[in-house]
Amino acid sequence: METTTQTHVIWPDVELIRNDFPILRQSVNGNPLVYLDNGATTQKPVQVIRSMQEYYTGYNSNVHRGVHTLSQKATSAYEAARQQVAAFIGAQQHEVVFTKGTTDAINLVAAGFRREYLKAGDEVIISTMEHHSNIVPWQLACEERNAKLKVIPITDHGELDMEAFESMLNPRVKIVSVAWISNTLGTINPVKDIIALAHAQGIPVLLDAAQAAPHLPLKVHDLGVDFLALSAHKVYGPTGIGILYGKESWLNKLPPYQGGGDMIKHVTFAKTTYNEPPLKFEAGTPAICEAIGFGAALAYVSQLGLHKIQAYEHQLTTYAIEQLKTIPGLRLIGEAKNRAGAISFLVGDTHPSDVGVLLDQQGIAVRTGHHCTQPLMERFNIPGTVRASLAVYNTTGEIDKLVEGVRKAVALLG
Ligand code: ALA
Repeated sequence: METTTQTHVIWPDVELIRNDFPILRQSVNGNPLVYLDNGATTQKPVQVIRSMQEYYTGYNSNVHRGVHTLSQKATSAYEAARQQVAAFIGAQQHEVVFTKGTTDAINLVAAGFRREYLKAGDEVIISTMEHHSNIVPWQLACEERNAKLKVIPITDHGELDMEAFESMLNPRVKIVSVAWISNTLGTINPVKDIIALAHAQGIPVLLDAAQAAPHLPLKVHDLGVDFLALSAHKVYGPTGIGILYGKESWLNKLPPYQGGGDMIKHVTFAKTTYNEPPLKFEAGTPAICEAIGFGAALAYVSQLGLHKIQAYEHQLTTYAIEQLKTIPGLRLIGEAKNRAGAISFLVGDTHPSDVGVLLDQQGIAVRTGHHCTQPLMERFNIPGTVRASLAVYNTTGEIDKLVEGVRKAVALLG
């Protein structure tokens, strides 16, 4: 094993990993790029880019529709990608629905509940730290059905108040929908406990795993979760595709989301019967190339090993927090005991976007603002944060540059 820097943070082949990501080799504003906006989207390895190029140059064709060779090849690759996702999350192939991403997957479930399962007086539970994509779909559903949206409170450290959650469970609750990892605070929520408590009362659970999928091993059948949503582009894959995992029994009873080609069994003007899941939920020509790229991304991540990625990123996160804390006036937003590498902070009176612009001038990419979690910003009574979010190709050297960059920015703004 090689040591990547003077510190004890190690990864066997971090430079080899970085070599797989051509985009990381560039300079931005005259400085080597330090990409720390992985919570927004991750960069793509050549293996993913190549798989997508091979599709367009070799066998671009529609799926599930043609007897010709190219169509059959495209269909096989598309379904092989579904199998790859299924293996990655420990599900059966027919429990994996391709969607446009996490947002689309949550909307699919919320639309089904709005149509079939929510009535006046029912309740839906989410949490204070949800992304807007796990708030607004439920708000729309509750408004239409005159149901109530209930919100699990959080502590000042950014952890769920589990006692409050337990006391919120009752027979009126029709679903609990929460993030596995907060995109803003980095908090890893106790999802096993959440599922156990909800299931004890017969309540299904949806996990927003957008921020979890790139960072920890994820097996839906072990968890016993009912629904799980994630996006390919956060796991080193392309944008425009993600999945909804649904337990077979749920996908069988949930109504279709959109109507169109491929989701039907038989259409007459009098009545349409629907295809079996997952195709029942995949109306229209899907994102074929993106699915193939997604499969390649998961193959890449699996070959690195999620356990190793988790251990490496844990060390990197601990190092980043230790170093950031040496900056006078720096306040971390989110200090959960169990956490991942989305690190939000504020420094003194500086505005997050001013710090972000000055970091960009040094080639350092972070996200600033409310991170699509406005109610969470309200909870902490802040306008936004600076967020550095880590991936497997980041190094302690890059953390050092971030810390130095923040110091410089604060001095200029001071
Ligand atoms: N949800 C993404 C983020 O947190 C876009 O940045």
